[in-house]
Formats: sequence, structure tokens, C-alpha cells
Amino acid sequence: MPPVFGSQLRQLALQLAATLAVLSLAWPYYGLRNEPLPWPQTALAIGATALLFATLTRQAWWWRLIHTLFVPLAWSASMIGIDPGWYLLLFFVLLLVYRGALGGQIPLFLSNATTAAALATLTREIPEMRFLDLGAGVGSVLGPLARQRPDAHFTGVENAPAAWACGRLRMAGLANCDWRWGDLWRTELSAYDVVYAFLSPVPMAALWEKAQREMRPGTLFISNSFAVPDVAAEQVIEVDDACHTQLFCYRL
Ligand SMILES: C[S@@+](CC[C@H](N)C(=O)[O-])C[C@H]1O[C@@H](n2cnc3c(N)ncnc32)[C@H](O)[C@@H]1O
Repeated sequence: MPPVFGSQLRQLALQLAATLAVLSLAWPYYGLRNEPLPWPQTALAIGATALLFATLTRQAWWWRLIHTLFVPLAWSASMIGIDPGWYLLLFFVLLLVYRGALGGQIPLFLSNATTAAALATLTREIPEMRFLDLGAGVGSVLGPLARQRPDAHFTGVENAPAAWACGRLRMAGLANCDWRWGDLWRTELSAYDVVYAFLSPVPMAALWEKAQREMRPGTLFISNSFAVPDVAAEQVIEVDDACHTQLFCYRL
């Protein structure tokens, strides 16, 4: 497992530390004065303290933003009087789609058709290819490739329930496509000629270690957008799309 849970726990600890720091001063102060705690100001003070802690510990800019806004927004939302059940429902709906973001900092975003075409060109010379998409989303890559290459075999592994179900429907009827519910970290890579991943920067070092352990010599590991840190790619393909997608290709 990549050390992502450690990173999330660090952020939680940072937010809790800011909350405790402010409350441990504010509660006795207002308690001794026999005055109620002014929640709007307290929430803003917690946000400012969390920003200070996040800056001192050199968190990424977007973590600093989240830390600053979290308690003030939570307090504002509590004032609207929405039934807490709706938050719980929203959390579960998001979990169905973005489970990967919670468990491994790998959210759902999709490869586009131009990238799928570039992958088809890149792999067209591999006879009877066995192709694996790790974190296959809704099948944006596997669908077009499986239709173009009836001689090849395609496997997609996905662990977010809504994405998996959507992909299951889209891949129905493609005999050369095996659409699996599962965890990419528990997927054995030795059977594949090409392993494709479009994940996030976070898991790349651990994923490369796994690829080196399990993939056969001469096979191809392709990462969309996220290079393996400190490893030179054999080839970098610049896809002709609006996002300037790069495909980092590593030969095992
Ligand atoms: C950026 S999307 C890429 C989707 C697809 N490969 C594509 O290129 O269109 C990454 C996907 O990986 C999935 N994912 C994240 N962690 C995973 C895990 N541990 N096991 C399987 N899938 C995972 C996410 O749910 C998401 O659908």
C-alpha cells in the first residue's frame, strides 16, 4: 500500500491541533469572563491557526486553502440548519464515485478519445496483446481499444462502485474485455504485455516498484500524465489534445 493514509492522517492531525489550540485558549478566557464563546470569531481563528500550521509544515497550497476554510465553512453550514442526514447521503454518493480519492488520493477523471487513439497506435504492433488498465474508470480507454483490436485481450480493474457499474454496462458485449471489480494493488501484473495507469502523482513510485517486481522483461508500463519519479521514461508521447496529455512509457 502507498503511504497515502499517513498523509491524510497528518492533515487531520493538523486541523485537530489548530482546533485544540484555539479552543484551549478561548474556552477558559470566555469561561472566566462568564461570556458565551463567539463561534463565528472562534471559527475564523481556527481557520487562521490551521493556515499558520499548514504553512509552517509546508503543506501544498490546496491543503492550506482547505485548512483555512474548513472550520469557518463547517460553522456556516451548521447555521443553515440542513438535516445532517443529507451530508451523510452526499458523503456516500461521493464515495460511490470517488472511492479512489479517499483510499489512495486517486480521483476519477477520464482519458479522452485522442489519448485512446494514441494508445492504439503505440500498441498496434504487439501481437495478441494482453492489456491491463489499472483503475479503469468507466472504460474510456478499454472500450475503444477492445473494439479496434479483436485479436487482443483487455482487462480493467476498478474499485469505485459507480464507475465500476458504469464500465460494466459499457463493456457488456465486448468478448475480449474482462471488466473486474478489484484493487489495483492486489492485481498481479505478470500476465500482461502492456499495463496502463492514469492515476495521480501519489502512487507512482510504489506502482513502479510493483511493476518492476511483477511485469515480465520487455513488457511496457505506460502512465498517463504522471511520470515515475527519478526514472527516465524510454519514450514520452505528446498527445495532440487540448490538455497536452503526455504518455510516459517505461520498458521493463
Ligand atoms: C484518473 S481515473 C482513470 C480512469 C481510466 N483509466 C481512464 O484513463 O479513463 C483513476 C481511476 O482509478 C480508480 N482507482 C483508484 N484507486 C484504485 C484502486 N486502489 N484500485 C482500483 N481502482 C482504483 C479510481 O476510482 C478512478 O476510476
